[in-house]
Amino acid sequence: MECLHGDSRADAYLQQTPTSHDQSSSSKSQQQIARTNTHRYTEFEPSRDISTVANAPTASDIATRLDRAANPLAFAPPDINEADIQAVVDVLRSGWITTGSRVREFERLIADISGVTHAVAVNSGTAALHLGLEAIGLKPGDEVIVPTTTFTATAEVVRYFDARPVLVDVERDTLCLDPAAAEAAITERTRAIIPVHFAGHAADMDAVTALASQHGLAVVADAAHGFSGSYKGRPTGSLGDISALSFYATKTITTGEGGMLLTEDEQVADRARVMSLHGMSRDAWKRYSGSGTWRYDVIAPGYKYNLTDMAAALGISQLSRASAMLARRTAIARRYSEVLGHIPALETPTTRPEVLHSWHLYVIRLNPGRLALGRDEIVERIQKRGINLSVHFIPLHRFTYFRTMYGYEDGAFPVASAEFERCFSLPIYSAMSDDDVDDVIAIVTDVIKAARA
Ligand SMILES: Cc1ncc(COP(=O)(O)O)c(C=O)c1O
Repeated sequence: MECLHGDSRADAYLQQTPTSHDQSSSSKSQQQIARTNTHRYTEFEPSRDISTVANAPTASDIATRLDRAANPLAFAPPDINEADIQAVVDVLRSGWITTGSRVREFERLIADISGVTHAVAVNSGTAALHLGLEAIGLKPGDEVIVPTTTFTATAEVVRYFDARPVLVDVERDTLCLDPAAAEAAITERTRAIIPVHFAGHAADMDAVTALASQHGLAVVADAAHGFSGSYKGRPTGSLGDISALSFYATKTITTGEGGMLLTEDEQVADRARVMSLHGMSRDAWKRYSGSGTWRYDVIAPGYKYNLTDMAAALGISQLSRASAMLARRTAIARRYSEVLGHIPALETPTTRPEVLHSWHLYVIRLNPGRLALGRDEIVERIQKRGINLSVHFIPLHRFTYFRTMYGYEDGAFPVASAEFERCFSLPIYSAMSDDDVDDVIAIVTDVIKAARA
């Protein structure tokens, strides 16, 4: 038995778990947990009635909660309720389904919540990043500093310009861009830095901003994970010269697909708005409405990145629950850390004091010295027991494209490479029930215990 520092809840789980990972003893121990697991916690009550959520667990889910293999827990389903559905239906019935008044309202709301002057809604976070780099005038041969621990979108947008994404290592605690590594990577060709607020934890923005102003660089922040979070009291979407939010299906609020460029710079916002719609002159989106005109100009070969009113209506409806959804994600994260943090073979995520985490992801790490099995095997065993997991992220330098294009190797990214080998992400989303959370904790604990060195 591992030392559990006297935590009664972790004790309750571990004392019921078998020392072998044999399936039959494992499921027997799960039944024992069902009988002894009476410490129903109250601090994680959803701030609204979870049964109103379309994908809420049903009574029969709950009855079979300890047999999750037959009823696997999804990794990150969206939290869609009847009001969300009605908001989209209203747009469908309105006679105006593409970019229009809903989009303008969504932009205004997000700008206000984020404390920025300008918001340009687009159809993905990737598009927002692309338009941000376009607006700063990125040119072929320019260099942009990107952390290697991110989704490929962060770096691919640099390649759209025939510019070079210069990958750098991340900080061990947050897995966000390491400002010292960024500084070491600056050359006379560097034009911008793209810090990523990994998992919803803001990057070290004081250091990034200082570095950028010292070297005359633009900060185009990848805030895809960050909506609802903050840094030193400032909303995460306000931290770059330009910030890009994502409203992809798994994000903290969703429009299905969608994104938003945020900035204080009016010229950047104007350019992004024009380039988001074919490079057509301002307000061309109104050309089929009563208030518009058929006459427009084209000032550049732009893109087709505009958001639809259907998507924006979903976003507006989601926004009305954003703080409740954040509260729920925070409660789930706290619960995971409270129990799993007592298992020496696991390392739970760190939140720096100046950060309000948006908990888009809950990334846990293994202490390999205490385990006889590696990450991949542990993930497979947990998944076989019915808990869907993911890994964030395979560092970009390991992908064929970036490796062959730039010759990147693990040795240049010691932190990202080592942390990737021992991390995985637990389900965390606002529609998760207390039982779902307890199932994850029970099964992870059981698998880790069986995998001890
Ligand atoms: C870190 C990061 N940046 C950018 C994106 C791209 O966002 P989108 O899918 O909205 O284009 C994602 C998407 O998951 C992401 O995780």
